[in-house]
Amino acid sequence: MGFFNWAAPAFNKLADRWSPDNIDEIAAWLKPFVPVGGRLVDIGGGTGALASKLSHALDAEVIVLDPTPEMIRYVPAEPLVHAVLGSAEHMPFDDDWAHAVIVTDAFHHFRDQDAAAREMARVVSPGGGIVIVELDPRGLVMRMIVAVEKLLGEPGAFFTAEEMCAFFGRHGIEGDCTEMIGPSYRFVGTVR
Ligand SMILES: C[S@@+](CC[C@H](N)C(=O)[O-])C[C@H]1O[C@@H](n2cnc3c(N)ncnc32)[C@H](O)[C@@H]1O
Repeated sequence: MGFFNWAAPAFNKLADRWSPDNIDEIAAWLKPFVPVGGRLVDIGGGTGALASKLSHALDAEVIVLDPTPEMIRYVPAEPLVHAVLGSAEHMPFDDDWAHAVIVTDAFHHFRDQDAAAREMARVVSPGGGIVIVELDPRGLVMRMIVAVEKLLGEPGAFFTAEEMCAFFGRHGIEGDCTEMIGPSYRFVGTVR
């Protein structure tokens, strides 16, 4: 987290990497779970670039939950977007409060991924969705990224797609993992 406090201004410049096609694709994964006017939590949502676009695409409230004050100060002031300081492991939300959660490029930063999964299952209502977009740590470039993150004091706790599916399965959340372009993959699971 210390890393993101000082990296926030640079990150804010780079974070809006979401093309209209990306947003259409991600919104299509979420629409079965998030009704119009519904509630989505973007865990580790950083500067809120994705939250802003998803709030329009879904016509739903998007709550950026992030423990780094310097990141969430960039979250845009928009009627459907809210910034909340907090961590994935201790979400300041009631049981069954959200229709879905999304995590992009942040799951490997969570220091207690089991606690985060338990919190997702608690906060998302039955039948709701969990969407994770992550990087597969295999391959030379990704192995270098893992090493750099660890040097910066971050956990760098990456899973492969198969490991991510197995991980959520152990938490009682079934879903599927699909490869995307480059080293990314996505998990979409349903809370029972
Ligand atoms: C690489 S940034 C990704 C931001 C955004 N999701 C995106 O895709 O642009 C990782 C974010 O995870 C946040 N983070 C780190 N540890 C966290 C935790 N335990 N719970 C929630 N968010 C966390 C950091 O503060 C940072 O904003």
